[in-house]
Amino acid sequence: MSKKLWGGRFGQSTNELVEQFSESVSFDQRLYLHDIQGSLAHAGMLHSIGVLDDGELADIKQGLRDILADIEAGVFEWDIALEDVHMNIEARLTERIGDAGKKLHTGRSRNDQVATDIRLYLRDAIDDIQRVLRSLQTALVVLADKEAATVMPGFTHLQTAQPVTFGHHMLAWNANLARDYERLSDCRKRMNICPLGSAALAGTSFPINREMTATELGFDAPSQNSLDSVSDRDFMIEFNAAAALMMVHLSRMAEEMILWSSDAFKFVDLGDAFCTGSSIMPQKKNPDVAELVRGKTSRVNGNLHALLMLMKGQPLAYNRDNQEDKELLFDSIDTVLISLKVYAAMMPQITLFRDNMRAAAEQGYATATDLADYLVRKQIPFRDAHEIVGKTVSYAVENKMMLSGIALETLQGFCGRIDGDVYAILTLEGSLNARDHVGGTAPAQVKKAAAIAKNALSTAN
Ligand code: ARG
Repeated sequence: MSKKLWGGRFGQSTNELVEQFSESVSFDQRLYLHDIQGSLAHAGMLHSIGVLDDGELADIKQGLRDILADIEAGVFEWDIALEDVHMNIEARLTERIGDAGKKLHTGRSRNDQVATDIRLYLRDAIDDIQRVLRSLQTALVVLADKEAATVMPGFTHLQTAQPVTFGHHMLAWNANLARDYERLSDCRKRMNICPLGSAALAGTSFPINREMTATELGFDAPSQNSLDSVSDRDFMIEFNAAAALMMVHLSRMAEEMILWSSDAFKFVDLGDAFCTGSSIMPQKKNPDVAELVRGKTSRVNGNLHALLMLMKGQPLAYNRDNQEDKELLFDSIDTVLISLKVYAAMMPQITLFRDNMRAAAEQGYATATDLADYLVRKQIPFRDAHEIVGKTVSYAVENKMMLSGIALETLQGFCGRIDGDVYAILTLEGSLNARDHVGGTAPAQVKKAAAIAKNALSTAN
């Protein structure tokens, strides 16, 4: 009557609604490759301790490989009556190879199986994400080097503050992403222990060799507590926290690209291939990629919150609640990957309107701090210098002039210690070049910082 691999003690078949409600194969089939890897390692270990003979091991290996080929060819039929990826594959194996298939689950439970599968899956996903993240970082660092002397206004409160270079700005973005990369590495390192062998919750009565399966699957070690192993989802939460923060960084970048590509700023063009039009307004070219990344940031942050809430009330050890972890995790992985990919493709294609950036820096009195610093060097206390420059800026605003356009006699009216040498520091280049220290925006420093960042990208892990 029942297809269920656990059907022995049941007198009635599962209610149809319950079948729909409780299946996970519609989404956890994504774990097929890692489920098969885990099963191959487990089978090899069972053979080494004498649970499987040579022929049984060979049949299991062949059967699992055939199933893998069928899945990849798209001809494997997933069945929700078999609940999840694990039981679909195991049932099919037994169909194909007979009794040897029934021995595969010896000394293992779906609880340690799924915990192992998702670690394997997430480990690969982190590797993929880090690869794409690197390519985005590379694009930013290349831009930074190329635009190390390209002046633009730097903002605080979104008001023009001081001139910076476009390259400096790109390296600020890269600094965020470099930390994201490290966070992923940290998370990957901590999650790389093997739960397999914890069985349902308490371990197993078979003399299993957990070191063997851990090594075979590329884990650093077997996990140390079976109860924890089948119930722990910290690694997912950590990953999702790193992913959520990375999306926040991508979202901040999005916000700047949206502003910069607007008519009001006109600092950059994001490229026709990365923008979309309006169905009603023919003139529009919208920065939808950036807007979608900003929007998708909410999903990944929502997934983090959902994972935290999923765990908060669970007693040890495994509970079925945990099945809810996968769609959240997969969604976060997919969203982060596609967002990074689209940025990595878009950034090398952007066009800069350097004249507009320069004009914006000039109009915003971005060198006012330089004038104050100049006065300080002429022995005026900073607070007094601040006041003097404030009045000077106000004069320039009223008379619609740039600071460097004010005549020397007029400037001397604000402060007698101002000399002809002031004009050199009032230029944008003067201001940039003055900030010539580690972390500063002077083009020479930006060049150096870009070289350091480039080197870090090629060596770090
Ligand atoms: N599909 C389940 C999950 O994702 C697999 C583990 C089920 N274990 C159990 N004892 N029902 O969590």
